[in-house]
Order: sequence, then structure tokens, then C-alpha cells
Amino acid sequence: MSSKTLRLTQPDDWHLHLRDGETLSTTVPHSSRTFARAIVMPNLKPPVTTVEQALAYRQRIISHIPKGRSFEPLMTLYLTDKLDAEEVQRAYDEQCVHAIKFYPAGATTNSESGVAELECVYPAIEKMAELGLPLLIHGEVTGDHIDIFDRERVFIDNVLSPLTQKFPKLKIVLEHITTREAVDFVNSQGDNIAATLTPHHLLLDRNDLLAGGVKPHYYCLPILKRSSHRSALIEAATSGSPKFFLGTDSAPHAIETKETSCGCAGIYSAHAALEFYAEIFEAANALDKLEGFASFFGADFYKIPRNSAKITLSKNPLSVPAEYIFGDSTVIPMRAGETVSWSIEETT
Ligand code: NCD
Ligand code: ZN
Repeated sequence: MSSKTLRLTQPDDWHLHLRDGETLSTTVPHSSRTFARAIVMPNLKPPVTTVEQALAYRQRIISHIPKGRSFEPLMTLYLTDKLDAEEVQRAYDEQCVHAIKFYPAGATTNSESGVAELECVYPAIEKMAELGLPLLIHGEVTGDHIDIFDRERVFIDNVLSPLTQKFPKLKIVLEHITTREAVDFVNSQGDNIAATLTPHHLLLDRNDLLAGGVKPHYYCLPILKRSSHRSALIEAATSGSPKFFLGTDSAPHAIETKETSCGCAGIYSAHAALEFYAEIFEAANALDKLEGFASFFGADFYKIPRNSAKITLSKNPLSVPAEYIFGDSTVIPMRAGETVSWSIEETT
């Protein structure tokens, strides 16, 4: 008997860390297996802060696309205090750069160069609002006195809400949201404000990270929250609202930087990203909503054409290996050594 299948327009990943150097030979084949395009995060060391650097990075990515596949890296710039309105204009004119990423200084992996006070970059933001170039936001406040589980909620109240009032036309993607408050905030705003949702925040909660022993491979930022927040995220993802779309935040780290006394944040999911989302949507009885979330709403928000290729998933288990090569080390993928209940049959 043939197994259940699902045919979708080929999806895009609207939030992806591909890293650089040798590790591109793991990450680029994984993402390009499924996605036609991806918004590529700029938090390299040093970060991608100019159009020139973004174009050079784009070429390094392209050189790792397996023969016969098409994959378009959509580049982003890292917002620093030095970004001026002229570079924003250059980014807009250069068709390969699609957004600017704001990391509050110190909020996450490689965010040392982030912005401490948004006021310093108001001229750049003003220009983005004028041009319709999206600002992508890692929405967490920093500071030791703020509880790590509250950092997204406090960011929305103290930073994001005032920002949207100051720049009401600015296009914003609140990346990898993790709380009911973030869902409610995005829903309360106009269609210039959207959010991405990751497979790990839709599949896991903080018990998966902490109960019965610390699981360093489930440590990511924003940190996994309690299960009631996860329910709110699933509701948002499967609601059919174009404000919520797919962004894996697949963020690989070498095993020795995760399994250590002060481990890096980031979960690697690119090897089975769409398969994870299919599991999530099936469990929510919402497989009919997957195509909008994965293949339409992001492209519509970024105002780029939807893909025309199709991808077929089938309800055949995908076995995930225990590890993948990652430069001169290895990376432990999400669901390592286990199975995902869907797999990709073909892309046409
Ligand atoms: C990301 C990384 O490793 O680059 N880590 C993560 O936990 N999500 C950075 C980020 O997106 O916050
Ligand atoms: Zn990220």
C-alpha cells in the first residue's frame, strides 16, 4: 500500500545560519535539498556589515551548491552602530541583499558587535522604512538582571513596541518567536509586522532541555519556554495567518563547543527541517495549512515571487544519523539517531 503523500510548492527558509568556510559543505547541501531560497544570517566572525562583504559571502555559499540544484541565498547585513543610510541605500539597490538584522549587543551567538542603543542607528532605520527593506529582529533584551525566560517579553514592551510607534511603516520580522506575548503582539500589528517560527520551538519546551538532565543540544536562544507558550506558537503557525512563516534558525555548532561547561546556543535542524514542520502540522491536524506557512507567506512578505517548483513529502520515516561532519569536527543534528515521521520523496 502506498503511504500518505503531501505535495507542496517548494518552500523557503526565512532564517538560516549557514556559517562559513569548510562547514558550508555540510550546511549548503542540507538546506538546498529542500529550500529554493534562504535568508542567510550575517553573524559570522567578523559579522557581515557591508554590501561588499555580503556579496563575497554569497559567492562562497554558491560555490557549495551541489550540481544540478538551484538555491538562492538571500543575503542580509548585520546592523552595527556604523551602518549609515548610504549603505542601506546600497543594500536596497543591490538586489542580492534583502534585509538587515538587528542583534541587541550580547544577546546571542556572535552578537558582540550588535547595537546597544537603537537611537544611534535611527537614520539607517528611517531609510529602511522609506525603502521597504525589512529589519529582522532578535527580540531579547540583555542584562544579567533580566530573567532569561522573560527576555523576549521584556524586549517587546521596552524596545519593540516603542520602535513600531516611532517607525509605523517599518517592515519588521520578529525572528524565532517563543512566547504567547510575541504571538499576541504580532497579531495586534499591521501587515508590516510578521514573525518566523522554528521547528524546535514548535516541537520542544523547556522540560526537554532541563528535566532529567541538561541537554546541551537543545540549548538555543531565545531559550525554550514552558509548554503553554509552545501551544500558542503552534496555534499561530497553523492559523493560516500570513504574519507567521517558516524560519528554521538552523544554527550548527561543533560538538565540542556545545558539550562543554559553557556551551554555545544553537540547534541544527537543516537536515530535516521541512520534515519536522510536517510532523508539527500533522499533529495539529493542519497539514492543509503547511504550504502557506512554508511556501507562500514569507515570499509575499518580502515581495519576491513564490516558487514554482513542487516538492513531495511522504509518510515514510527519515532516519537521522548520530552526527554530521562539520569542518574538522562534527555537529549533532536535532533528533540525532532517531527518526522523523515524514521524508522528502522528490522535488520537481
Ligand atoms: C544562533 C547562532 O548560533 O548563530 N543561535 C541560536 O541559539 N539561535 C544565533 C541566533 O539566531 O540567536
Ligand atoms: Zn538565528
